[in-house]
Amino acid sequence: MPSPAQGDERESMNFDGSFLNQLQRSSDALFQYLEQFPRVRVLVIGDLTLDEFLMGQAERISREAPVLILRHEVTRQIPGGGANAVYNLARLGAQVKVGGFLGKDEQGSALQQIFQGAGIDTRGILIDPNRPTVTKTRISGHARQSVNQQIVRIDRKSDDPPELDLQLQLADYVKQQLATVDAVVCSDYGDGALMAPVIAAALEHDRTIVDTQTDLHRFQSATLFTPNLPEAEQAVGYGITNQQTLLRAGQDLLQMTQARAMLITRGEAGMTLFEQTPTGLTSQHIPAFNRTEVFDVTGAGDTVVAALTLGLCSGASLWEAAVLGNLAASLVVRQFGTATTTTDAMAETLRSLLNLEGSES
Ligand SMILES: Nc1ncnc2c1ncn2[C@@H]1O[C@H](COP(=O)(O)OP(=O)(O)OP(=O)(O)O)[C@@H](O)[C@H]1O
Ligand SMILES: [Mg+2]
Repeated sequence: MPSPAQGDERESMNFDGSFLNQLQRSSDALFQYLEQFPRVRVLVIGDLTLDEFLMGQAERISREAPVLILRHEVTRQIPGGGANAVYNLARLGAQVKVGGFLGKDEQGSALQQIFQGAGIDTRGILIDPNRPTVTKTRISGHARQSVNQQIVRIDRKSDDPPELDLQLQLADYVKQQLATVDAVVCSDYGDGALMAPVIAAALEHDRTIVDTQTDLHRFQSATLFTPNLPEAEQAVGYGITNQQTLLRAGQDLLQMTQARAMLITRGEAGMTLFEQTPTGLTSQHIPAFNRTEVFDVTGAGDTVVAALTLGLCSGASLWEAAVLGNLAASLVVRQFGTATTTTDAMAETLRSLLNLEGSES
């Protein structure tokens, strides 16, 4: 009899037989792609964010105002937004170049240091003297022997786009790098790295993967888009509430963008891949691999993009690449905040998924 945990895991995966068969058939290839990741060269153009966490223990109420005083214990700084996609790629072993903007501030230096520590080529990062580094600072506190609780978040960002001159400089950098990378990833959180001249330069590469929170139309004819469900709904202008509307949305999005493929990520429902093939539109559903141990889904989409890009560059089909993205996401949703995973962890999880199937047949 399976242990309760094992039983839950099977239950939660809700795989149908055909998905498992397909996974089994591709398994040798999937392990091989993982081994190729260190050879892959990727340029990420991204809205770079610093996620900051300040934590302390609640001591007393202030005499200045009716507020808590926390005694500072620890500060954590983690790449967020497009910087999370960059960091995920590096932690998966790829050769990563990053293009984008940082402010002339401590937060920008912190992010540069994190990147350089991970072996990321930061020569494409331009300093924007007029705009701060996008920073989200969460302040949380805890009473003695109790769990941390977020009290407030402070965001630093500008509503203005970078000046045209800076946009053109970034576009030039992108053009110079096109021949040196296997793929270009656009990680667009709407903070100004992905303006028209930069997008035009990125789309000159024949493998451009786009994860955007802004208008998909701006990236016409990219190879692949990875909208999450709300982003897909926003783009098509109707709710995606059942199989029928999901299929219609996939079709509409492909038509709208002229992309080769569209991967709609659907949180705990997994993801659906729509592909334009010579014989017509195909759609394939990939169930989430892990729903029982989910701790924090923040940034899972960035992880999907990272792993699937490396899959595609290693020779995987779109479906296989999406499976790798799904596998990587299943690992980061078990961790706190935006997080990363490694090819070793992915291989181990893949092995256990395959064993699970073996014990069921
Ligand atoms: N609750 C969950 N349980 C299991 N897997 C999940 C869960 N949420 C997300 N995932 C995995 O992560 C993938 C991406 O998640 P989602 O669709 O939420 O992306 P996203 O909204 O773009 O994320 P973000 O913008 O925070 O990076 C899903 O397709 C799935 O594989
Ligand atoms: Mg996303």
